[in-house]
Amino acid sequence: MNRRYGAPPDFTEADLAEEPGPRRLIVGISGASGVIYGVRLLELLRPLPIETHLVISRAAEVALAAETDLKPAVAPCSIRSMAEIASGVTTTLLSRAADVVLKERRRLVLMVRETPLHTGHLRTMTALSEMGAVIAPPVPAFYAKPQSLAEMIDQTLGRVLDLFGLETGRVRRWGEAAIAGTPPLRSKPRRGAD
Ligand SMILES: Cc1cc2nc3c(=O)[nH]c(=O)nc-3n(C[C@H](O)[C@H](O)[C@H](O)COP(=O)(O)O)c2cc1C
Repeated sequence: MNRRYGAPPDFTEADLAEEPGPRRLIVGISGASGVIYGVRLLELLRPLPIETHLVISRAAEVALAAETDLKPAVAPCSIRSMAEIASGVTTTLLSRAADVVLKERRRLVLMVRETPLHTGHLRTMTALSEMGAVIAPPVPAFYAKPQSLAEMIDQTLGRVLDLFGLETGRVRRWGEAAIAGTPPLRSKPRRGAD
């Protein structure tokens, strides 16, 4: 599957049945900084033949109000939600949904957003990783030479969707040409190249 970004959702129920990889994706938004990641993630998923479900925590609404003009939208994973998921003592639909995904041995990706991290945070991340979750903090890839914040966000989210086998066409991989007319990643020719 490699649909052009921005293409209309031209898929059918048959596509949904035939596509390899996940056909339903839950996007969880908790009250961490960077709600734009969640908003953009849903935008990137829109043209793909994926059924999306949004679960948003109450604290995410506060973060949203602080960071965007939007009403309900998306955010990455807070330390609190991460800790709930790791412990199994879940108090919200968001953490419970993630807990169920873990117990059913399905793919769970947590874009944990906090810095710096103390040993307890790191231990919790290790525990989650051992349980099968993928810890994918929103760390920008500067090798991609992003020309804007939007490009930086798309790159990060594209890598997250890679983890679900979903191709957005927005990831600029090492050594690849630019997506929208920006210069190639390698500024100098390789040794031996013309
Ligand atoms: C504007 C704003 C930004 C926040 N950023 C973070 C953050 O980056 N990481 C984090 O772990 N908590 C952050 N918090 C605190 C969480 O929102 C808070 O711990 C909350 O209880 C998380 O609940 P939830 O996981 O149910 O969304 C932020 C709070 C606000 C209001």
